[in-house]
Amino acid sequence: MQFAGSHILSVHQFERADVERIFTVADRMEPYAQRRRITRVLEGAILGSMFFEPSTRTRVSFGSAFNLLGGEVRETTGFESTAIAKGESLYDTARVLSGYSDVIAMRHPAEGSVGEFAAASRVPVINGGDGSNEHPSQALLDLYTIKSEIAGRGRGIDQLRIAMVGDLRYGRTVHSLCKLLCLFDQLQVVLVSPGELRMPGEIVEQMRRAGLEVVESEQLEASIAHVDIVYSTRIQEERFSTQEEADLYRGRFRLNQSIYTHHCEPNTVIMHPLPRDSRDNAQELDDDLNDNPNLAIFRQADNGVLVRMALFALILDVVDQVDQHARDVNWYTARRF
Ligand code: NCD
Repeated sequence: MQFAGSHILSVHQFERADVERIFTVADRMEPYAQRRRITRVLEGAILGSMFFEPSTRTRVSFGSAFNLLGGEVRETTGFESTAIAKGESLYDTARVLSGYSDVIAMRHPAEGSVGEFAAASRVPVINGGDGSNEHPSQALLDLYTIKSEIAGRGRGIDQLRIAMVGDLRYGRTVHSLCKLLCLFDQLQVVLVSPGELRMPGEIVEQMRRAGLEVVESEQLEASIAHVDIVYSTRIQEERFSTQEEADLYRGRFRLNQSIYTHHCEPNTVIMHPLPRDSRDNAQELDDDLNDNPNLAIFRQADNGVLVRMALFALILDVVDQVDQHARDVNWYTARRF
């Protein structure tokens, strides 16, 4: 695809070569994310960061990525602080705010809303999550993490065995990740969820059409026994009509160190888009896994900065200039990775 000036709304936009290009650029961002070098390549550029749903990682890592490239960030959070609360349409908001930014990252609770906003925007828009539909930058950073975690074992993404666990109906991260996996070969995917929270049928069909072997299950232990990656997810309580309904599923599948030791292969990588729900009745990933070296969740969150830097550099067409506007840092930097 042509990255310069493009919106990033869905993983459907990418071919395998595009994903590989993003990953190559992300690798080049490491000295900057690790604070060994700084670059001013986007000096003067403005990111409009618009998050109309709770967000920690996605919002802050989009902002950090832009800052690390030398740009500035204008944040808008919550409908109540915008004229949308006065009845302004997404169209008008997009027409106006795109006049104040060079690129926009946006999260919104309604499916398709970020696409609607992008259609009226005069600058590129990146989808930071639209309802339960898609979360393309998360899928890219998830896949980048999968690739990095298994690279030391001499393996690539093709032929991997992956289990996805939890709320597969409303989880936009797993929707985007499953669609992205369709670009790769001979993968085996086990989808573990309560029957009511299964992966939407059209995504399962799409994976099978792409040649992936897909099995659906309601049994955690047996499903994680022979996989390279376990990708756990939170029950998306904000998508249920009542808390009581969400409570029916919370805590249904819990992975802890004892289950891991007894059922997983020794090097199985544990992932989660985060936030993990650490309340007593949930705990889909127990804190007792924190010292497990295969728990990749914080490396995964770190990778968000690399991948988002890569997206900005590609969309704003500065990949080849990043190193020209760089120098070593002159302050103490803690080792991050
Ligand atoms: C996810 C999201 O918002 O879809 N979080 C994230 O962006 N890392 C997953 C979640 O909220 O459960």
